[in-house]
Amino acid sequence: MYESMKGMLAKANAEGYAVMAINAFNLETARGVITAAEEMNAPIIIDLLQDHVKSFFDCDILTQPIIKMAQAASVPVAINLDHGHDIAHLKRCLHEGFSSVMCDASALSPEENARVTRGIVELAQTYGASVEAEVGNMGRIDESGAMLTDDEMYTNPDVAIKFIQETGVDALAVSYGSTHGDYPEGYVPTFHFDIVEKIKAGTGAPLVLHGGSGAGEENMRRSVEAGINKINVGTDYMIAQREFVAKVLAENPGYDYPTLVEGSWKAGIEVIKRYIEISGSAGKARS
Ligand code: 13P
Repeated sequence: MYESMKGMLAKANAEGYAVMAINAFNLETARGVITAAEEMNAPIIIDLLQDHVKSFFDCDILTQPIIKMAQAASVPVAINLDHGHDIAHLKRCLHEGFSSVMCDASALSPEENARVTRGIVELAQTYGASVEAEVGNMGRIDESGAMLTDDEMYTNPDVAIKFIQETGVDALAVSYGSTHGDYPEGYVPTFHFDIVEKIKAGTGAPLVLHGGSGAGEENMRRSVEAGINKINVGTDYMIAQREFVAKVLAENPGYDYPTLVEGSWKAGIEVIKRYIEISGSAGKARS
């Protein structure tokens, strides 16, 4: 079943759980996400990072095959453009059939962010698509150097409440302690749940946790209690696949390549299922 995030997140909001949004970048990784959701009877969001969409097959080629997979799935599946900074490209994704987009204008001032996002909300409505936005900023940990989310990057709850009211977004990503990427060994981030609670109390809107990988089970469960209805995970899905490839090639450098690719996306399924369990969305595919 191919759906927008709107209904999915409204149900999650009403029933007090979060839908998992997993980063995929090609047909195989998208298939892994859908397979995990089907095995858990859970609604799921395929998060296609804009940078990945641009550097692998672009939206004109990639979108329709994933939509076909979603339509054939036994559970509700949404396709969301993750971190859509490039607005012209985001519009192309809507045109190609994405059921959801994240309009990420969070680097702009709150007023400019709201103005750009409002325009996308109006456009997305004409496609029946939903819109996520971000207020505040999350750090990123990658080869270019660790940058954890620090104090001035947190979402200001008052700004976020005004933003949701002015733009009419379907979901808002909130910065309250998580960081994109792989945390240093043994590091568990400190989450400021009061930020989420205040925005939830002021709007009742579905809120989003980014940087779910390595955030810690307890932090995730408490996030859902505080009002998070969508949890983004990418890095841990990729690591599970990379570790499978590294292990197989270490044991047998001459391993058959198509079998390696098939084993790789399948190796990520258990990680996704674990996150579905933590998010409370297992068994929530239907009302
Ligand atoms: P991680 O890669 O840290 O899980 O974050 C994913 C994410 O938030 C995508 O927007």
